[in-house]
This record gives sequence, C-alpha cells and structure tokens, in this order.
Amino acid sequence: MILAIETSCDETAAAVITDDGGIVSNIVASQSELHARYGGVVPEIAARRHLELVSPVVGEALAGTSLDAIDRIAVTQGPGLVGALLVGLAAAKGLAWSRGLPLVPVDHLHGHVSSLYLQPDPVEPPFLCLLASGGHTLLLDVQDHARFRVLGSTLDDAAGEAFDKGARLLGLGYPGGAALDRLAAEGDAGAYDFPVAKVSGLDFSFSGVKTALLYAVRGTDVEERRADLAASYQRAIVRALVDRTREAAAQIGAEQIAIVGGVAANSELRAALPEAKAAPLALCTDNAAMIASAARFVAAAPDPLRLDAYAVA
Ligand code: KG4
Ligand code: ZN
Repeated sequence: MILAIETSCDETAAAVITDDGGIVSNIVASQSELHARYGGVVPEIAARRHLELVSPVVGEALAGTSLDAIDRIAVTQGPGLVGALLVGLAAAKGLAWSRGLPLVPVDHLHGHVSSLYLQPDPVEPPFLCLLASGGHTLLLDVQDHARFRVLGSTLDDAAGEAFDKGARLLGLGYPGGAALDRLAAEGDAGAYDFPVAKVSGLDFSFSGVKTALLYAVRGTDVEERRADLAASYQRAIVRALVDRTREAAAQIGAEQIAIVGGVAANSELRAALPEAKAAPLALCTDNAAMIASAARFVAAAPDPLRLDAYAVA
C-alpha cells in the first residue's frame, strides 16, 4: 500500500491506496474558508495551516489501516506554493525515514492525470488529456502511465482562475468556480456574447473574456442579471476549452479524450464533452489519492532527505 501526502495549495490531503489503484482512504481538509476573506490563497497562511493539519489528516487517512501496512510514502514535490509544499515534503520525509520506507516524489500535474488510473474505472493510455485547474490549463498527449507531452497551455490565466475571477466579479465569493457553475444553470447562456480568444497553436487565453465580463458588469444591474452573466461567461470558457481539446485530439489522432483538474468538475464542460473520460468529482479537485496513484509509476528518490520542492513545472 501507498500513503500519499498533498499540500501544494490550500488543501491538506492524505490518502492510502493499494498497488492496483484501489482507494482505501482519501482525506481532504480544505482551507478555503480561511482564505476567502482575502479573495485568494495567502501562501504564508496556507503553509501555517498545513503545519497544523498535516498530522491529524495523515492520522485520519491511516485510521482504518496502520503504518505497518504501508510499503511506500509518496508526496507532491511541485509545482505549487513552495512554503505549502515544504510542509508535506517534511512530513513525508519524517515518516519515510522513521519507518525506513522508500519516498516517491510526485509532480502535481502527473498526479491530476493519474486520478484517471484509480479504481473502479481506470482509463488506459494513450489519450488526449485536458488538465484544467486553478493553476494550470494544459493539453497533454498521454502515451503511458509515467509521462506526458505538453501540446498547449494558457498564455495568461488558468481556466479555474478565470472561473474564480468571474465569480468574484459576480459577488460569489472565493473559490467561486463551483458556485458559478450552479448559478449558470439558472441563466441564459445566450444573453451576452462574450468572446472566445483565438490564439495560435493549441494554446489558450482567458484574459479577454474576463475583461469582457468586467465591462458587462459595470454597465449592468448585476443583482438582476447575475445568472445570465454567469451562464454566458461559463459558456465562453467552456467553448474555448472544448474547441481546443477537439482540435488537439484531431491533431494527434487521439482515440480517447480525458479531462482532469478542478474545472473538470464543471457540469457544462462535462456535458459538452460527453465522450471524455473523467474521474469522479472528488478526484478532480486536489486530493492525495491521485498523488498515490501517480507514485505507482515513478521511481523512489535515491536520496530522499535531499528532496526539495519546486514552484513551477
Ligand atoms: O485542481 P484544483 O483543486 O486545484 C489546483 O490544482 O489548482 O482546482 C481548483 C479550481 C478552482 O479554480 C475552482 O474554482 C475550480 O477548480 N472549480 C470549478 C468547479 N469546481 C472547482 N470550476 C468550474 N466549475 C466547477 N464546478
Ligand atoms: Zn491541482
């Protein structure tokens, strides 16, 4: 069994999985309420909260098992907030060292992709993968479990960031992606004609649609049009994601499409790409089961106590 720890942003998470991808436990303690009053994640506060939560969260993940049953420890090494990552990394090093267990460093993006490899319905590579989260928007050519090739990425905001900033303009709080999703269901997506940026290659850009929403909000009684604004804004983001994903799939001749990351929880995106494989909602947003899943395909660190965190991919 593998015990994994994930602390790259504002979720303190720990999970235990079996070597064939069965989830034994998957504990996520979200700090989002702590950061909501600031309208975004405050790195120093996140790191301090991880420090308070990491031991109880690991304890809870091990509640039905025992540390004696664990064969390997996995941990998110990056990308993410360095202070936040260091807490998980230090906890994982301590556990691995004290127990004499191998320590496997996992890339957070590989983790998101590996959410698809968990039971009960694991997806088998090759596939074209859209990874859309609060920090990243990537199109990936996934040829095997261990690696992927980046085909396109965002030139400015990540898709989740665009959702969060839009939600903030509409007064929906932070992080607002899921709230905007719910509100959009009550609105008319054709009410506003928000632009879908056309950038070259397989890249994305979301700054234009965000600015368009800002201007629309300024000239409108937001109270009255909130649902229409949300629906039209979501439609523009989803259209950009879907168009580019289909283009990329055609370009590499992919027979399977998959979506991962927090934005893969979006109901309109899921409906607009009905053929896409997607992990259950709880595995789309940050969690440690996906990190444990990735660790099955990564070698343990030769010198674990020297592992360092990295902020960018
Ligand atoms: O993967 P994730 O938990 O963290 C990162 O690695 O960034 O993604 C979080 C992002 C946030 O921006 C959040 O607003 C967005 O995913 N999100 C959604 C939905 N649920 C979460 N965006 C749109 N619709 C949703 N239902
Ligand atoms: Zn993530």
